[in-house]
Amino acid sequence: MVADIHLGNVSKTFPAKAGKVEALGGIELDVARHEFVSVLGPSGCGKSTLLRIVAGLIPPSGGEVLVHGQPVDGPSSKVGIVFQSPVLLPWRTVLQNIELQVEVRKLDRAAFRDKAHKLISLVGLEGFADSYPYQLSGGMQQRVSLCRALIHDPSLLLMDEPFGALDALTREQMGLELQRVWLETKKTVLFITHSIAEAVFLSDRIVVMSARPGRIQEIVTVDIPRPRTLDAMKDPRFHQAVDRARKLMNAAGLPE
Ligand SMILES: Nc1ncnc2c1ncn2[C@@H]1O[C@H](COP(=O)(O)OP(=O)(O)OP(=O)(O)O)[C@@H](O)[C@H]1O
Ligand SMILES: [Mg+2]
Repeated sequence: MVADIHLGNVSKTFPAKAGKVEALGGIELDVARHEFVSVLGPSGCGKSTLLRIVAGLIPPSGGEVLVHGQPVDGPSSKVGIVFQSPVLLPWRTVLQNIELQVEVRKLDRAAFRDKAHKLISLVGLEGFADSYPYQLSGGMQQRVSLCRALIHDPSLLLMDEPFGALDALTREQMGLELQRVWLETKKTVLFITHSIAEAVFLSDRIVVMSARPGRIQEIVTVDIPRPRTLDAMKDPRFHQAVDRARKLMNAAGLPE
């Protein structure tokens, strides 16, 4: 089967004052359909750059990037993105913020109304469709941005530290919710995080990167059946994966 995401020898170099910055080099990765893959690595190792390349927001400097076997040459409706901050428009309600994605993509808003309400209840925001962002907690706002990323039914969900700004307990809760949404919608997910435990809890595989220039050090497989409850964190396989990822992260070193 063709991988949902294929990265072949992908590199990225940015121009800088003193020459250039080599952000990524020699990235080889295939993500299968419905797989949940996390990316861990020191700050500045190129995680967001990698995600932006897959999303078609920036081109790679070299190598091959395929989504569903097709070369990526710009933003695509196959992709939904969630960033660290929810970036909701304060003057729009929850429903209207979700519908923004439909408007931007010039799709028929009425046709997506039911879908929007279904997503709102899927992420546990029933009763908040007409609320404004300031009336929601950070976790609730991030749920809205998850709905916004899913409304046009992309097959790939790209998430760049989506829970990074949340407190530890809310973050755990969001992890559980994301697992539920993922099990229900069966998206292919590429998920960037700084939390080793979060990566292990959510993922099929964890890509651990080294410091700049970002390269893949090792891919850690997490073989724990789903759905995973918080008790999965007591599973010896959970600890093994956390230990392995932590060792690799320590070996990755600090960015220059
Ligand atoms: N548009 C850009 N122009 C120039 N340099 C850039 C640009 N975007 C990223 N970089 C550089 O590329 C490297 C990787 O950045 P990136 O944001 O991908 O790292 P990251 O792994 O996401 O870091 P963090 O964990 O802090 O979010 C950094 O050295 C950064 O300064
Ligand atoms: Mg980043």
